[in-house]
Amino acid sequence: MQSHTGQRQVLFPFLLPLFCGGLSEQIHYSIPEEMARGSVVGNLAEDLGLHVRDLLNRNLRVSGEEQYFIVNTENGNILVSDRIDRESLCPQSILCIVPLEIMAENPLNVFHITVKIEDINDNSPYFPQNSIVLQINELAILGTRFGLESAIDADVGPNSLQSYQLSYNEYFSLMVKDKREGKNAPELILEKPLDREHQNSHFLVLTAMDGGDPVQSGTIQIRIEVTDANDNPPVFSQDVYKVSIPENLPLGTSVLKVTAVDQDEGINAEITYSFKTLRDIRNMFMLDHQNGEIKSKGPIDFEISSSYTMNIEAKDGGGMATECKIIIEILDENDNAPEVIFTSVSNSITEDAELGMVIALFKTLDKDSGENGEVTCLIKEKVPFRIESSANNYYKLVTDGSLDREKTPSYNVTITATDRGKPPLSSSSSITLHIADVNDNTPVFEQAFYLVHIAENNPPGASIAQVSASDPDLGPNGRVSYSIVASDLEPRALASYVSRAFDHEQLRAFELTLQARDQGSPALSANVSLRVLVDDRNDNAPRVLYPALGPDGSALFDTVPRAAQPGYLVTKVVAVDADSGHNAWLSYHVLQASEPGLFSLGLRTGEVRTARALGDRDAARQRLLVAVRDGGQPPLSATATLLLVFADSLQEVLPDVSDRPAPSDPQAELQFYLVVALALISVLFLLAVILAVALRLRSSSSATTWGCFQPGLCVKSGPVVPPNYSEGTLPYSYNLCVAHTGKTEFNFLKCNEPLSSGQDMLLCVCARGEGERDPVTSSEVPIII
Ligand SMILES: *[C@@H]1O[C@H](CO)[C@@H](O)[C@H](O)[C@H]1NC(C)=O
Ligand SMILES: *[C@@H]1O[C@H](CO)[C@@H](O)[C@H](O)[C@H]1NC(C)=O
Repeated sequence: MQSHTGQRQVLFPFLLPLFCGGLSEQIHYSIPEEMARGSVVGNLAEDLGLHVRDLLNRNLRVSGEEQYFIVNTENGNILVSDRIDRESLCPQSILCIVPLEIMAENPLNVFHITVKIEDINDNSPYFPQNSIVLQINELAILGTRFGLESAIDADVGPNSLQSYQLSYNEYFSLMVKDKREGKNAPELILEKPLDREHQNSHFLVLTAMDGGDPVQSGTIQIRIEVTDANDNPPVFSQDVYKVSIPENLPLGTSVLKVTAVDQDEGINAEITYSFKTLRDIRNMFMLDHQNGEIKSKGPIDFEISSSYTMNIEAKDGGGMATECKIIIEILDENDNAPEVIFTSVSNSITEDAELGMVIALFKTLDKDSGENGEVTCLIKEKVPFRIESSANNYYKLVTDGSLDREKTPSYNVTITATDRGKPPLSSSSSITLHIADVNDNTPVFEQAFYLVHIAENNPPGASIAQVSASDPDLGPNGRVSYSIVASDLEPRALASYVSRAFDHEQLRAFELTLQARDQGSPALSANVSLRVLVDDRNDNAPRVLYPALGPDGSALFDTVPRAAQPGYLVTKVVAVDADSGHNAWLSYHVLQASEPGLFSLGLRTGEVRTARALGDRDAARQRLLVAVRDGGQPPLSATATLLLVFADSLQEVLPDVSDRPAPSDPQAELQFYLVVALALISVLFLLAVILAVALRLRSSSSATTWGCFQPGLCVKSGPVVPPNYSEGTLPYSYNLCVAHTGKTEFNFLKCNEPLSSGQDMLLCVCARGEGERDPVTSSEVPIII
């Protein structure tokens, strides 16, 4: 500046003298604006042609616009006294000239000078706003212009705003309107289609530049917001959604969520979802229209449908829509228990059914698939049946053991079918199998052997015994009938016993073979033996064999020697009783005696002995009334009258006897002779026997003891004593007779034989039983009189 001013100062001194006469007051200065205070604008004294020594005297000063300039009175320089801003001093105008009036005294004079203020580039261009926002729809047509505000530069001339520059971008270009139209306004031109979804805003910087040196500039930031147009349809995250869900989902369970996005914004991006499908699956699933979630709505059953396919549409607020496809696969759950269905059951299962016989056919059914539908069957009970698998879920129930209707008449067979699901399901089905009867059981008697006692003299038709047999079979197979199939009685006798009373004295025991027979076909039978023992009753009174009454009913007599000592055996009362045991155990009692105390009577023996010697006063004839009583309850008895005559010889007696009116009974005489003849024959026979025995004895040497008499019809054996015999002599001795007869009849053999003395009688009674098992009844009893 200093040099610039210097140049002016050099210029003006040349000009001033030239124009001093005519243009004496017109002095021009030119300074740039914004000079520092005190800067010299020009030397007025020189330019006015004043002498330096006059200056003080002249007192030069600036009037008027004095705030910018002062005059140094010492040297006449005009100095800048304040900051000079051209733009505020001369706004709007290109030329800025400040007129100054310089007053001088001594003499007073006015000098007019002008100071031209020259522009310097002290202002930058600037925009009224730092930044602006432009909203441009993304569908704006190419070439569209968007006007921008101009920048402002207070400088003038080349220092003023000259050009604009736009930061680089591919969408917009800059165009500046022609200057001739005044303000040169910048404009943006759309060069490339906008896409909000690609880039929703752009930043541009516009720079305004002046022509100064150096160039000054100002910028504005332009933000372009691309506004949305509904130019995008919603887009699903997948074209096809595939999901697998188990069946039997609880209602309202979320199955799947579809998502569609719309790149637009606002209402153009508000999506609603809806079913778009031909099949009416709205009963099965529900769709949340807002968030696209699919939930189960109805019962989902694999067995009804194993998959569902549907379309879902997403629609934005602008009406653009897209569809997607949904495939929902239903997974099988083990939710069906297998069933057991009997297709046929045999209606007759006999207890003799063979192993492996088919009893029933059944099948299983499981609606599930895969392992959930694989079924196994089993029987839990212990029954004689098993399951055989047949094809295609068909099974046979066959016998697997022996059946016995009598033990188990029916079976409840429960077949449990279980599938292989996790957890497995099972179900059971039962059938009741009734086992039909077969006649496989023979009747069985309650006892293996029956032994019954029956008292003799039973009323005809009375029950002897009752047997019973059981047969567990059913119906006719178990209906038992009874019969007597064998007996050891004679066939005719058997029938007659029905209407007869038993007589122990004739039949002591017999055995029947009974048969129980069912009515099966073939019938089965069992035998049992029934042994009947006929018990004795005291139904036979003792029978007096001696003394026998005479043929005329008169009693015979016995003689007693007069000199008989006490204890002399006079005679013996002999009686028998057909009963047995106690009923036949006889006792003898004196009922009446003409001279009591003269005779004694053996209680058991029946022996009549003298009790004392005959006295003088005793009568020669004595009479004893003897009672023979058996041991039965009540006892039965018989009486016998003994006539006893004391005499030394028979002749002595006979007159007495003959005295008596002898009954001339030819019958009695005949009997007497018969007896004599019989006795004779017997003696002869006895002699023969004795001879035979003697011969035999000589060879065997050992003599046998024979209780009562030697020879006899009976085979000898030891005496048999009645069980409770205690005192006295035996009424008779028992001798085992025929041990093995095997005969069924009851024999009562009698034989009497006179002994050599001719006084005693022998009576041999042989009671012969029929069986080996009853030794008591198989005996012969010889009785010696
Ligand atoms: C079989 O089942 C029936 C009916 O449930 C029952 O009355 C009967 O007692 C059962 N029989 C056996 C042998 O369990
Ligand atoms: C039963 O006894 C009868 C007659 O003795 C005989 O024929 C039959 O075979 C016997 N039955 C049995 C099963 O022993």
